[in-house]
Amino acid sequence: MLFSAVQPSGLLTIANYLGVLCHWKEMQDSYDCIYCIADLHAMTAKKKIYKKKNKNENIKTILDTLALYLACGVDPNESIVFLQSQVLEHTQLNWILNCYTNLGELFRMTQFKVKSKNENASINSGLLTYPILMASDILLYDVDKVLVGEDQKQHIELTKKIARRVNGIYSKEIFTIPSVVITKSGSRIKSLLDPTKKMSKSDFNRNSSIFMLDNIELINKKFAKAVTDSENPANISFNKQKKPGVSNLLEILSALKNIPIIELEKFFLNKTYLDLKLMICQTVKNKLLPIQEKYFLYRKDEEYLKDILFRGATKAKKRAKETIKRLFSVLN
Ligand code: TYM
Repeated sequence: MLFSAVQPSGLLTIANYLGVLCHWKEMQDSYDCIYCIADLHAMTAKKKIYKKKNKNENIKTILDTLALYLACGVDPNESIVFLQSQVLEHTQLNWILNCYTNLGELFRMTQFKVKSKNENASINSGLLTYPILMASDILLYDVDKVLVGEDQKQHIELTKKIARRVNGIYSKEIFTIPSVVITKSGSRIKSLLDPTKKMSKSDFNRNSSIFMLDNIELINKKFAKAVTDSENPANISFNKQKKPGVSNLLEILSALKNIPIIELEKFFLNKTYLDLKLMICQTVKNKLLPIQEKYFLYRKDEEYLKDILFRGATKAKKRAKETIKRLFSVLN
């Protein structure tokens, strides 16, 4: 069984697509899959909590995310697709696992260090305990695989540590220890404007990221502005340290086309950065247009989308309750 999730903290980017979403359909053919919309995690984005919201803003973003899942080929009859906040066992297990996690372990998480530096003075504690809720999401379902981008690897390693600790204390296999699945290409997409940072849906500069619903004109503009370097003549080769911008563009193209970077380097020998950008724009367009078309069809039918979430939560709850029962059999 495989678990994967995205937090609906904004429109999804091609980094979310290449990191996880583009693999979900194929995973669904090989495994029993659980695809979650992690709306409780999205609450840690401070502006979400304090900003005066437009009416129904949260549910709108949740349904946007679900419609994208479906447009990427997720079939709710084959996989369990559900909203985290509709399965209360996530918060129940979250509290229990809080009591089995050391503060030092949380402070060492890279994502916390980066995010807390950006947020300065008033950091909410959800940012710190975020990986424990992730551990709860995973451990509730006895999954053996978790598909994530590279940035989440550390959180999955912590999940395994917590699970082993609980199993060890009670000398019982309460939790299944999952393994992390990170795909070879597309799992560490960087910002188009600062290729030393990851591409993120919450980046305040919208030109740093390609969003899955961006129109073609905007995509062309964003890639035109994407950072390369000043080598003359152009040198299209992969070297993350010396050529982070060009390497990122090669990684995006390689993941989209499913062609090894080494082949792309050969193809682009003696070609210009403009040639590289033109090919990426064309490839992104070919990938995103059919997804966007399907997205708009699914997105129109809100009752259908809400029904998928209801059915998904019902199935997820059944499994989650069994895990909680097993856990309380040793806790009480
Ligand atoms: P989120 O929404 O930030 O990211 C969703 C998925 O996209 C991957 N990702 C990337 N992949 C490649 N390059 C990037 N620049 C990039 N940015 C993001 C993330 O690694 C992630 O797999 N906390 C999770 C959501 C979550 C979760 C879970 C995942 C909640 N509970 C349990 C796995 C298991 C997250 O990062 O969401």
